[in-house]
Amino acid sequence: MARHLITSAIPYINGIKHLGNLVGSQLPADLYARYLRARGHEVMFLCATDEHGTPAELAAAKAGKPVADYCAEMHIVQAEIAKGFRLSFDHFGRSSSPQNHKLTQHLAGRLADAGLIREVSEKQVYSHADKRFLPDRYIEGTCPNCGYDKARGDQCENCTKQLDPTDLIEPRSAISGSTDLEVRETKHLYLRQSDMRGKLQEWIDSKTDWPVLTTSIAKKWLNDGDGLQDRGITRDLDWGIPVKKGDEEWPGMEGKVFYVWFDAPIEYIACAGEWAEANGKTDADWERWWRTEKGADDVRYTQFMGKDNVPFHTLSFPVTMLGSGEDWKLVDYIKSFNYLNYDGGQFSTSQGRGVFMDQALEILPADYWRWWLLSHAPESSDSEFTWENFQGSVNKDLADVLGNFASRVTKFCRSKFSEAVPEGGTPGSREAQLLADLEKGLREYEAHMDAIEVRKSAAALRALWTLGNEYLQDVAPWTTFKEDPDTAAMQIRIALNLIRFYAVISSPFIPDASAQLLTAMNAEDATWPSDMASAIDAMPVGHAFSVPEVTFRKITDDERADWQDRFAGVRT
Ligand code: 2FM
Ligand code: ZN
Repeated sequence: MARHLITSAIPYINGIKHLGNLVGSQLPADLYARYLRARGHEVMFLCATDEHGTPAELAAAKAGKPVADYCAEMHIVQAEIAKGFRLSFDHFGRSSSPQNHKLTQHLAGRLADAGLIREVSEKQVYSHADKRFLPDRYIEGTCPNCGYDKARGDQCENCTKQLDPTDLIEPRSAISGSTDLEVRETKHLYLRQSDMRGKLQEWIDSKTDWPVLTTSIAKKWLNDGDGLQDRGITRDLDWGIPVKKGDEEWPGMEGKVFYVWFDAPIEYIACAGEWAEANGKTDADWERWWRTEKGADDVRYTQFMGKDNVPFHTLSFPVTMLGSGEDWKLVDYIKSFNYLNYDGGQFSTSQGRGVFMDQALEILPADYWRWWLLSHAPESSDSEFTWENFQGSVNKDLADVLGNFASRVTKFCRSKFSEAVPEGGTPGSREAQLLADLEKGLREYEAHMDAIEVRKSAAALRALWTLGNEYLQDVAPWTTFKEDPDTAAMQIRIALNLIRFYAVISSPFIPDASAQLLTAMNAEDATWPSDMASAIDAMPVGHAFSVPEVTFRKITDDERADWQDRFAGVRT
């Protein structure tokens, strides 16, 4: 038994996430966490809401609420939806927690003591009407290059020219529209990432088993001149973690907060502290996951994220961890994902395009989505959600193959024998073949799951379901029964045990269906099978079961057309 720490990239607080976000980190992380628990390992699976930064402030302003209230409410909304998708976090924390405030300020202090932080004076636009400094993209004006009148302070969308806010003609605040702006001098802290280049290079080079997607992005930024530039880690905002050096004030930094990308990954650690507090545990209980000198040296730490998050997790966050000079557990494996597209275009939160997590659960239970998303995870390239493909996969894999198997076998047994595992008959060569095929297939499935190859795992699981179907097709107990009820009993005994076997091994993908089948099979023991011979014998002759309700229903053509229509526009 090993100890596994798993984190999923923490979703921004401003709004409900779409299915592309879900499959890019939280869902595959949950698959892995569930699998490792099922294999008997000790798992700590953490996620949280990412609550700081301008987008949170603006979303709160739009909702007409104080930002702290807005975040508290949206955290509950996101936590509920996560439950709906059966995301099995040990804790779903908040980056605005007291634990994260304390740890972020502590780490900034350590970095400063190590000489890894420098102060820089910059010119920034201040809006009198908004009473705040404006980030570049919240300043609008006319492009000096093409005359477009909604160019942003960082770039003109029309002619793509990169701009500085001071280049804009007639600049105004994108928040209030005010033109009462002033360029002011302001001081910020920069993390000297470039000083750590050697250490980072060595660390990344040692990760020879990482997925190509992860290492190619990490190496690109590490070796590119711009990639490892020193980064500003403070902002002139009200909402965020106040800039302090540990417990002490930081002269010249009054009224400033840390940049959201500085404190967000630190929340992975703080979240464990939140977990401890919420569950009446001690500091030692969470530190054994995070501090190598307190037990975390035998932990395996895996992170899940979309590809856009990789630079922050392979460069900035490790600089913070290594630079602190403390014994923090570093990530062992980073699983990153490409993007999921939506029906010929992109999912888009800002444009409200695609299916969002709350909407998905309104139309179908979590398992339908979990199966489709995981079996089409954008691993080696981007992938695309289409309603045809979704309907096809659900109807075929879930309804025809798995659901139908369970229903046929249990109903046949009830009608010809009873609602108990029947006695009689002796397995022959066809059964020996089935067991050998299942044994091989199970090992393949485990190998793909161990390697976090999500699509391959789904394909291997589907292949195991198919073996059972093919067996049933071949031996046709409904025909056998007429001449040889004893042999039919043996065939059905095997098939009933297969339902239990499928419920156990499918639980990381489709936990609700798995629980439903285990209940119907009256199976108290749901431990992962060590070998097929015992798996097929787990429910002995006489073991009572009941016929399950429909496990998976089919999606009709009308429904498909309806949903396609309903989600074609934009969510408002
Ligand atoms: O891209 C995002 O959704 C970010 N909120 C992810 C942060 S992950 C980590 F750094 F905490
Ligand atoms: Zn322009």
